[in-house]
Amino acid sequence: METARIPIVLDVDTGVDDACALLLAATHPGLDLRAVSCVGGNAPVDDVVRNTLIALEAAGRRDVPVSRGAERPLLETPVDARHVHGTDGMGELGWPAAPTRVDPRHAVELLRDVCRSAAHDGMPLTLVPLAPMTNIALLLRTYPEVAQGISRIVFMGGGADVGNATASAEFNVFHDPEAAAVVLDAPAELGIDVTMYGLDVFYAPVVTRAEAAGLVALGGRGAAELGGRLIEFQCDRFDRDSATIGDAGAVCAVIDPTLLSTRPLPIRVELGGTWSRGRTIVDRRDWSGDLAHDPHGLAPTRVEVALGVDGPRCAGLWREALLAVGRA
Ligand code: RIB
Ligand code: CA
Repeated sequence: METARIPIVLDVDTGVDDACALLLAATHPGLDLRAVSCVGGNAPVDDVVRNTLIALEAAGRRDVPVSRGAERPLLETPVDARHVHGTDGMGELGWPAAPTRVDPRHAVELLRDVCRSAAHDGMPLTLVPLAPMTNIALLLRTYPEVAQGISRIVFMGGGADVGNATASAEFNVFHDPEAAAVVLDAPAELGIDVTMYGLDVFYAPVVTRAEAAGLVALGGRGAAELGGRLIEFQCDRFDRDSATIGDAGAVCAVIDPTLLSTRPLPIRVELGGTWSRGRTIVDRRDWSGDLAHDPHGLAPTRVEVALGVDGPRCAGLWREALLAVGRA
């Protein structure tokens, strides 16, 4: 019996690794990519839209609606990550703009509409934010009823132990801490299950230069070639022999949850703090003890926090999926 495809929506700041995630989400036979929403983050939102359309063109998915969302965070001053992703935000590959047009709806309206359809069809979708969560916070606060159309949020962001944008904070959460706090309230406020694919697992699934060359060799400006070139760009940028698939790992975890080891843990986002703003404070204390003296008490919400990942199996899933598309 054929297993049903998982309905999925991505929110992206494409971005080299967002593009790796889009290529998988758009081509894997186990997923039904319904829509993509764009937000400013790695690059300005208009570059993000352009890069997203290029990735979907390479994947042969002109049918997937793409909308432009928030240009900047709710409160924080915008910063980009073009020092990581290249001046165009997607590896400076020079690929031509896609012929497809952006959907005229704002990202929040597109997200609203696809969630409402999912609820109507009785097939709630998996929402995968891979960027600063400004669009998602605006959606949940403006149209809270969309929760009926969302089965789970699997977001790339945060970290139990490490930061990258600062010593405390991961880029997506640091970029818009208030938005992240709204999303992390979703389990308690809206009954939506949330999984955090954070920095604790983000760097483990890697692809080597040689494996990337095998993808590039399939050519044709298809998903495999683009995926290989994105890995090659990262290897060159960081002078390494391998590179992480980054955001794509979160999509792999939607396809195969056994890739992750997770724990349901209380979590808060630091919104104050000079050096700690944007930190995801994951509470791993043994709660059987006496927390009565903790003035903050336990966070009201528990999130499935990914603390481990089978890196080789995860990267292999991504690579094999693109090879299969490239050879088809
Ligand atoms: O911290 C890594 C995250 O920030 C990834 O989603 C990357 O694309 C950037 O958005
Ligand atoms: Ca991203």
